[in-house]
Amino acid sequence: MTRTVRAKAPAKVNLQLTVGPRSEDGYHPLATVFQALDLWEIVEATPRTDGRITLAVDAAAGSLIDTAGVPVDESNLAWRAAELLAESYGIADGVDLRIVKGVPVAGGMAGGSADAAAALVACAEAWDVGASRGALAGLAARLGADVPFSLHGHTAVGMGRGDVLTPAMSHGQFHWVIATQAAGLSTPLVFAEYDRRVDEGAQSPSELAVCTEVMTALMAGDPVALGASLTNDLEAPALALMPRLMQVLEAAEAADACGAIVSGSGPTVVALARSRQHALAIAAHLRAAKVADAVLTASGPAGGTVVIQD
Ligand code: C5P
Repeated sequence: MTRTVRAKAPAKVNLQLTVGPRSEDGYHPLATVFQALDLWEIVEATPRTDGRITLAVDAAAGSLIDTAGVPVDESNLAWRAAELLAESYGIADGVDLRIVKGVPVAGGMAGGSADAAAALVACAEAWDVGASRGALAGLAARLGADVPFSLHGHTAVGMGRGDVLTPAMSHGQFHWVIATQAAGLSTPLVFAEYDRRVDEGAQSPSELAVCTEVMTALMAGDPVALGASLTNDLEAPALALMPRLMQVLEAAEAADACGAIVSGSGPTVVALARSRQHALAIAAHLRAAKVADAVLTASGPAGGTVVIQD
């Protein structure tokens, strides 16, 4: 009897994203602090006996996410995750995958990476491969720089490409407002714009060290201090490619957010609130200012990728 396994994986924000100069392999060394948010990608995996992989993508109910740009072939990271797992464990079975998206597409919140993490966990369970969490983390790193953190969740420092993780201490819950744009920004293009700015002297690569203010604010559970210490070296390149994001940052400041920043490579902007109530007030302000296509709220840290028990 075939059964469907469902796994959920969280979105992320980078509280700090420090980018070093481009390496020869095309990647940039990072010093980053991730926080997982309770916005989830769900992947359902139903084994099939003919060795084929199929993929369907839907938006989570009420999420207003446009799934039109999401590939449903082998270029989708969830598909590649299933393939890699099957190869690694000699699995001859195939799988029907269904992604239910709750994280904005191409938004800088690692929705695609979450799909890969959820697909790894769901397929490992559906095929009963007996993979340890550590083995899945090794496969995650081969799929993409943000996939290991989606698997891990909570709060973590990321070095290397962002895939060498160390868990970080954090106290309490932080409340976020998430302002998304219908048009996405491509991560490679934002990194390329960063390179261009470095070449022309508009920006210099930063020292790859973890920011003490961020770590102290996390441990204190202090949103005001955390908001004041948010940094992202990809913000200036993202703003150069999409200047209207400045209006979102300004509107968040006008709504008295503790801090606001472009998330990862953008174009999603995240604003940190003092409380859940404050987050709702900032969200109302951003909606009224009409600076984003959708505005939602979330809190973090959230857990890592897990099987959803029915
Ligand atoms: O690893 P992932 O596929 O998510 O990365 C997408 C692209 O983002 C890479 O091909 C690379 O151009 C860029 N990138 C980078 N440095 C990183 C992470 C990603 O240049 N640390």
